[in-house]
Amino acid sequence: MFSPEQQAAIDRLWRRKLEQDATRTPQAERHRNLEPDSALLLCALATALGAKRLMEIGGSSGLSTIALAEAARRTGGRLASIEIEPRRQEEARRTLQDLGLAARVDFMLGDAASLLPGVGEKDFVLIDCEKDDYPRFLDALKLRPGGVVAADNILSHDLADYVRHVRSRPGVESVTLPVGKGLEISRFPRGQ
Ligand SMILES: C[S@@+](CC[C@H](N)C(=O)[O-])C[C@H]1O[C@@H](n2cnc3c(N)ncnc32)[C@H](O)[C@@H]1O
Repeated sequence: MFSPEQQAAIDRLWRRKLEQDATRTPQAERHRNLEPDSALLLCALATALGAKRLMEIGGSSGLSTIALAEAARRTGGRLASIEIEPRRQEEARRTLQDLGLAARVDFMLGDAASLLPGVGEKDFVLIDCEKDDYPRFLDALKLRPGGVVAADNILSHDLADYVRHVRSRPGVESVTLPVGKGLEISRFPRGQ
């Protein structure tokens, strides 16, 4: 369960996203936030795994950031939030400050392609950026043994190439969950 303040922030972001879709706001200006059900699932999953080193690629205005930062608060961990667009990240930073969660988050502004080589090992990663980038960003991750990667938009964007790609890795257990826009949840083996 999110706190009432967290839930209100999620609801506010989600309402704006739906309004932008309904009024056909140009794609480049839309916030494209994670579905609230997916946010709840990812928060519960990361918490249950005891994930302490979390990361998201594509933080946007912060809906998923709230979910993963709350998981980090519960596990005593930290979240790295990568976003390329400064105004969206600034909004996310303000929201997380208002919720008292900003101290859990390392906001990283820039292209994930440039930032990922400098990022350390993670045990829980959300990939939620441009869909063509999913396979190469997966390959750029340093995952701790037993780490989990969640990727959004699997069903809405028919990301069969990404699904094939992640499932081709030796020992990976991976399943598409029909929650929100479709989440591929992939657990990497220990000892890989
Ligand atoms: C689908 S939205 C993310 C929504 C966010 N997870 C949320 O729940 O609010 C995708 C975001 O990825 C960002 N993005 C796209 N390509 C990127 C890249 N190469 N590096 C970092 N961020 C990127 C976009 O600017 C956009 O804000």
